[in-house]
Amino acid sequence: MLAGEYGEVLERNFRLLVRLGEIYGADRMIPVSSVQVAGVSYKSIGDPGLEFLEDMAEKGARVRVPTTLNPAGMDLQDWRELGFPEDFAEKQLRIMEAFRRMGIMMTVTCTPYLVGNLPRFGEHIAWSESSAVSFANSVIGARTNREGGPSALAAALCGVTPNYGLHLDENRRPTLVVEVTAGLRDAADFGALGYHIGKIVKSGVPYFRGIRDATVDQLKALGAAMAASGAVALYHVEGITPEAGRVRVEGLESIEVGEKELEEARSKLNTGTDPDIIILGCPHASLNEISEFARKVNGRELRKPVWICTSRTTKDAAERMGYAEIIERAGGKIVADTCAVVSPIERMGFKTVGVDSGKAANYLPGFCKQQVVFGSVDELLKKVMG
Ligand code: F3S
Repeated sequence: MLAGEYGEVLERNFRLLVRLGEIYGADRMIPVSSVQVAGVSYKSIGDPGLEFLEDMAEKGARVRVPTTLNPAGMDLQDWRELGFPEDFAEKQLRIMEAFRRMGIMMTVTCTPYLVGNLPRFGEHIAWSESSAVSFANSVIGARTNREGGPSALAAALCGVTPNYGLHLDENRRPTLVVEVTAGLRDAADFGALGYHIGKIVKSGVPYFRGIRDATVDQLKALGAAMAASGAVALYHVEGITPEAGRVRVEGLESIEVGEKELEEARSKLNTGTDPDIIILGCPHASLNEISEFARKVNGRELRKPVWICTSRTTKDAAERMGYAEIIERAGGKIVADTCAVVSPIERMGFKTVGVDSGKAANYLPGFCKQQVVFGSVDELLKKVMG
């Protein structure tokens, strides 16, 4: 590939991987079994990204390992009804077409592990999308660096990635012990904890103690928030995540997180008071979260728009289960293929968003010029439910 025998596209992409490997001192290339590609929303990549992808597709770029796709900037079916701008939609659909031509699976979600791209423990993968990277490394025990959009795409086209960083045992050891004494009740608490620790640990590897139980949904909220406020790509939770029992923590510095720290984190994330819209599903909601939400709003009335973002696959299942109908009857909407952060909500008249996600709360002020009301689903619903 590097010698150009397979064409210009592969040569260029392989060269990018070689360069990355040189920078990080990789000893060789290793095969990857799957890739998650980010950099999908027109809002994030703009015209240069669109032209780059169309050019690659035109020149015959095709992925050679199973590759899934991150959220786009809009619901690819209901964008008109939801009020997404026409000019934005036209560009977004061209981006999707370029990815489709490259053979990428149109999952369009940041939770690929919920819709069929589920690596096994120890498997080497090349994923972008920081929350998915964190989940794959920490909760599943697969091995990936935090790839950028172009390096993930290069790995998908070439089938390999340079062997460095979190592919190696020595970089998966914890760097800080976090003793959690605060009670964690819901995804918002896990998000606030993640926001707080991400700021402290930056790109290190935290080892949590004191978390007695956590659902998969809560772990995805924790990892997403840490990946956003810091650059955490791997964490361990004693007694819960698969590598926690294999690593040593003796001699490591430790910090405590109690109710006071959690409350401070929550209040830092709160920059507004009265949401124009509530957007849940960051990372994309699971069927479980949607069913729980449907139960809460069943027979009630939502006085403001409420979106729950998820993958198309999960939305289809939610429709089949009747959850979508219950949510719509209350005035809410299951929105597929996109999320609060990568959609152009600032162009759609919204100024204050209610979220239960530490990651979304961290990004919305900067990326979407929004004020944020951060709280649990129950706290947010209290503000908009009759
Ligand atoms: Fe996913 Fe968007 Fe949050 S990509 S992790 S829902 S910011």
